Amino acid sequence: MIVLGIESSCDETAAAVVSDKKEILSNVINSQITEHQQFGGVVPEIAARAHLEKIDIVVDKALKDAKVELSDLDAIAGTCGPGLIGGVIVGATFAKTLAMCMKLPFIAVNHIKAHALCARLTNDVQFPYLLMLASGGHCQICVVNEVNEFDVLGTTIDDSVGESFDKVAKLLDLGYPGGPAIEKSAPFGLDRFALPHPMCSQKSLNFSFSGLKTAVKVLCEKHTSPQDKLDLCASFQNAVIEVLKYKITHAIKKCIDEKIAITALVMSGGVAANQAICTSLKNVCNDFDLPFVAPPVRLCTDNGAMIAWTGVEKHLLSQFDRLDFRPRPRWALSE
Ligand code: KG4
Ligand code: ZN
Repeated sequence: MIVLGIESSCDETAAAVVSDKKEILSNVINSQITEHQQFGGVVPEIAARAHLEKIDIVVDKALKDAKVELSDLDAIAGTCGPGLIGGVIVGATFAKTLAMCMKLPFIAVNHIKAHALCARLTNDVQFPYLLMLASGGHCQICVVNEVNEFDVLGTTIDDSVGESFDKVAKLLDLGYPGGPAIEKSAPFGLDRFALPHPMCSQKSLNFSFSGLKTAVKVLCEKHTSPQDKLDLCASFQNAVIEVLKYKITHAIKKCIDEKIAITALVMSGGVAANQAICTSLKNVCNDFDLPFVAPPVRLCTDNGAMIAWTGVEKHLLSQFDRLDFRPRPRWALSE
């Protein structure tokens, strides 16, 4: 079985063809970073227009790279949310139109679910598993029981991890996106600023990152030398690592206490590209003899392969969607 997946919920127009044998036959990504860079973040209207301009080219290349015709496909999967609604409408409408014209099944994909399930494409991960989803738009700890059954253990009450990286990078004039820039700078700095570790004195698995960002804001007004900036990157990244380590330790303990036989910790979403964070969480897992899995970087950030793979998973369960499925800017995992 082969499925075409289309992604357009943020600032990447992406399409991929993936098989039920876990082969990624193509994976095309057109990043809009240059369009948004001058604004220091994603501008929704610009994103939607850029998706519209590129989507046919990206999908065409995905089919050509995979050496398949539309008629070879078994289904078309498209991100229908959550995300920036203009972009979601572009991708979802394109996917539905192709499905309608080719008389193929259409599969509506939840973008967060796709990040969560991507590890099953790249690794042999069995249900149930613990998921740390950390992207620009989302921050959640879940137990993934089945393709469609997620128990959300914790979420952020304000900013996501990726968002806090982006905001801190903006404060330090490091450009957009902030995560890779901070990760690159951090090894040249000293962790010498005592930053808060928000919500780390409690058992709740919820996060809060806006206070951490505000603490960096106050410090960077007083400490302005190039070395200060590097030290702030190191201190900020280490503070995030400490928070994630604390929460993941508690989440694993909760699973043990409640006899949930998790098979692995999966780290997913754009922040999983951060090797310092992944190494620290892997060390936490080692203490519990729990495998740690993070997809390769190009599949951690937004991509079409994770959408196509979610399409494969849903196709195997014969879960298809109607062509009048409404694109959703918000779409909770529990829905
Ligand atoms: O999953 P993703 O591509 O898009 C969303 O669904 O949001 O995640 C993008 C986010 C951005 O906030 C970006 O700064 C962050 O992931 N990110 C990183 C790194 N690479 C990307 N954060 C920390 N370290 C990185 N190396
Ligand atoms: Zn994403």
